[in-house]
Amino acid sequence: KASGELPARLIGFDGIPVQQDPAFDRVIVAEGYTARAFFSWGDPVERGAPAWKADASDGWQAQSLQAGENHDGMHYFPFADDPDRHGLLVINHEYVNPTLHPQGMSKVGGRRPLAEVRKEQAAHGVSVIEVSKDAQGQWQRIYPSHYNRRISALTPMRISGPLAGHASMKTAADPSGREVLGTLNNCSRGFTPWGTYLACEENWHNYFVNRDREDYAQRVSHKRYGISNGSASKTYSWESADPRFDATPDATQPHGGYVNEPHRFGWVVEIDPFDPNSKPVKRTAFGRFCRECATPSVAADGRMAFYSGDDTRGEYVYKFVPAGRYDAANPAANRDLLDSGTLYVARLAADGSGEWKALVHGNEGLVAENGFASQSEVLLNARAAADLLGATPMDRPEWAAVHPQSLDVFVTLTNNDQRGDKFAVDAANPRPQNLHGQILRINEAGNHPAATTFRWELFLLAGEADGSKDADGRPVPAHLTGNIKGDLFSSPDGLAFDKDGRLWIETDYDDAEPVMQTMGCNQLLCADPATREVRRFLVGPRGCEITGLTWSPDSRAMWINIQHPGISYPASDGVTRPRSTTVLITRDDGGVIGAV
Ligand code: FEO
Ligand code: CA
Ligand code: CA
Ligand code: CA
Repeated sequence: KASGELPARLIGFDGIPVQQDPAFDRVIVAEGYTARAFFSWGDPVERGAPAWKADASDGWQAQSLQAGENHDGMHYFPFADDPDRHGLLVINHEYVNPTLHPQGMSKVGGRRPLAEVRKEQAAHGVSVIEVSKDAQGQWQRIYPSHYNRRISALTPMRISGPLAGHASMKTAADPSGREVLGTLNNCSRGFTPWGTYLACEENWHNYFVNRDREDYAQRVSHKRYGISNGSASKTYSWESADPRFDATPDATQPHGGYVNEPHRFGWVVEIDPFDPNSKPVKRTAFGRFCRECATPSVAADGRMAFYSGDDTRGEYVYKFVPAGRYDAANPAANRDLLDSGTLYVARLAADGSGEWKALVHGNEGLVAENGFASQSEVLLNARAAADLLGATPMDRPEWAAVHPQSLDVFVTLTNNDQRGDKFAVDAANPRPQNLHGQILRINEAGNHPAATTFRWELFLLAGEADGSKDADGRPVPAHLTGNIKGDLFSSPDGLAFDKDGRLWIETDYDDAEPVMQTMGCNQLLCADPATREVRRFLVGPRGCEITGLTWSPDSRAMWINIQHPGISYPASDGVTRPRSTTVLITRDDGGVIGAV
């Protein structure tokens, strides 16, 4: 094929069947391909890391040198001199499971033991690992390596952009409002054309509590994000051992104690994987919400957009458009491009038109009398600002993917069991009690990422085949049927295009739910964006979600993540505790993954 053109037939493998066995505990992939476990929770990352202990008795110091838990988004960064054989793999560790500890998570006298909390914090964050092809052409992890690095919920980070040093960012421990410890709940991913990784902070609100009823009721920056107003944070109760996570205002402490600590999460964290001594930077110009991803789109003129979903029922799709342009010839000029620009939120009309509404102070009600004293408040309370701009509430926006030629943007809307109830059915979110989700396609005006208007359509509705029957022979209700051409799936989550324009779809549903029995275990599928044909490429072990997706530049190696496997993967012996694992996929003839 001529360079720049897409192949006529995109998908070259035969789809594989679903796995409905409740004890299924392996990864299977299409014929002609091999999948092998590559990097699991507890594997050594930094120098001096002990080997993983099967009884989970490693302490927090060991964990801080080893792979974290719940691998999610990931990206491969090539070395310029040998890009298809040598790179850095950067992998998120979204959260932790009770299996992190020998006997699960405990409380003593109503408090979490500090040693457990520290291990949980150390198992969050990001891993950077050096990888290369050996003399036999097999990909290996390099250990030890100067590049290998663990970033956790305890790693110092610089706060940058409009909120740096702002009063709402100051805490008892950081009166400067410019340095925060760690990143939390890093889900999907982002990356930049200048070779940095963007870790996105998704469900950070679950880690905090504000017990003050009166304060909470008027504090939009807590309430609108769902921070707990009960006796404890929604997950882990870290605040019982680490006061930084207790966001109840405390007038006896400088800056109210830690009431502002939740303001220091919900951002994009830029990490330079090639400099292991670099300090990660929280870029506040991106705005604060429960951000799943920050997927780049770069136009020929160097203008850019980073697309994000805010994955909560009825939340919004955003994009951040930097003010400057990407300049490949001048890397130093790109260093702080992410500190200034415009955050937009999507409003979708029923006729297939759409508008990007700018979250800019002074614009359409974003003024002091509505609680937005300056641009800092707009970014800090991006959800509330988007409410005022009439953004369209979506069915849990997760990953965005940008087509390599058209720059069309595809967004997974994973599911929303409150659609038709708390949120009215509309053209883009058309099914009540939407358990299976859909994929949205956005065509920017002029195919330009900085456009302020677009056209949209639904690329597909996931779910059961039209006219199908359930296990008891009853017709499947209309709201559970979709329009997939090919292999069925539910709850699209991970989404990415490869270099040839194949659209890869990863799923995240509860495979134990009776309504998901047709779908079997979670899956990786491949779609042709032109014909909309979908084929199932890989099925994961029972209990997992499939997430994370990246390639070597030649697309002859693909890595995905098996997150929270339920039985004993990757040992698959029925006994060993399960470990989230990065899986390497290669083609037995050495060809391009997915191609003819
Ligand atoms: Fe962590 Fe929205 O998935
Ligand atoms: Ca996940
Ligand atoms: Ca996700
Ligand atoms: Ca999900």
